[in-house]
Amino acid sequence: MKIHTTINSLRAESRAARVAGKRIGFVPTMGALHDGHLSLIRAAKSRCDLVVASIFVNPTQFGPNEDLAKYPRTFERDCQLLEKENADLLFAPTVEEMYPQDAVTWVTVEGLSEKLDGKSRPGHFRGVTTVVAKLFHIVEPDIAFFGQKDAAQVAIIRRMVRDMKFPVEIVACPIVREPDGLAMSSRNAYLDSSQRKAALVLSRALWEVERKYKSGERDTNTLIERGKQLIAKEPAARLDYLELVNADTLDPVAQATPGTMVAVAAYVGNTRLIDNLLLP
Ligand code: PAJ
Repeated sequence: MKIHTTINSLRAESRAARVAGKRIGFVPTMGALHDGHLSLIRAAKSRCDLVVASIFVNPTQFGPNEDLAKYPRTFERDCQLLEKENADLLFAPTVEEMYPQDAVTWVTVEGLSEKLDGKSRPGHFRGVTTVVAKLFHIVEPDIAFFGQKDAAQVAIIRRMVRDMKFPVEIVACPIVREPDGLAMSSRNAYLDSSQRKAALVLSRALWEVERKYKSGERDTNTLIERGKQLIAKEPAARLDYLELVNADTLDPVAQATPGTMVAVAAYVGNTRLIDNLLLP
C-alpha cells in the first residue's frame, strides 16, 4: 500500500489510475480503525479496481469542548490493517495540507445539519461536509463508502453530492457490531469495563423499540417512550436523543413505517455514543 501525505502526489496517482480506466473506490476515515472501517474497505474492494482510504482527524468537525486532542491515533496499526485488506493507497495529510491558513470557505448542507447530532454538536456537520468535499476533489472517486452507523452523516453527504453535482456514487454499508451488540466505534476505546457494559443500553433500547414495532405498535410517541424508559434504567447513561425519523430528511415521523430510522445518542461518562436501526 502506498502512503501519500500531499494532495499533489495522491491526486497524480489517482488521476493516472482513472485515465487507465480503473474504477476508484474511496473510504474516508479518522483512523483508529476497527472492523466497521474494514468492512467499508472490503465493500470497496469488491466493487472497485483501486481502493483509496484516508486517515485524517478533521479538526473542524470537533466542537471546542470535544475530544479532538485525545482522539485515538494508532497510525502504524491502521496501516497494517489496511495492508491486510489490500487497500491500494492511503491518503494521510497534515492539517496544514488540508486547511490553508486563513481558509474561510465552508460547505454547509443547511437544515439537515441541524438535526439529530447536529442539534447537540453545532458546527459538526459543516466540518464533515467541508472536509468530505475537499477529499472528493482530491481523490476524485467513482464510489465512496460510508457506514450506516453515522446515519445522519450519510443523509447529509448524499444531499451534498446531489446538490453540488459531485460525480460520485455514495454507498452506505451496514453497521458492524461487537458480538454483544455494541456498535463498533473508535470512541469505544474511551470506555472502562463498567462503562462498556452500560453502553449496551443503546442497542438494547433500539431493539426494544423494534420489538414493540414488530408487535404492532406504530405510534411514535409510544415507541420513543418505551426506548427512553429502558435508557433511564441505566444510571451510567445520559440520553442525548432518541428519535424516530425519516432516514433521508431526518425529520421526525408521527407514525413508524418500514424504513423509519430509530436513532439514539447517549453519553456514557464523558463519551458520546450513537447507534441506529431501520425498522423492517
Ligand atoms: P470515522 O468515525 O473514522 O468513520 C469512518 C467511516 O467508518 C464512516 O463512514 C463511519 O460511518 C464508518 N463506521 C464507523 N463505525 C462503523 C461501524 N460500526 N459499522 C460500519 N461502519 C462504521 O465518519 C468519520 O470518520 C468522519 O466524519 C469522516 C467521514 C472521515 C470525515 O472526517
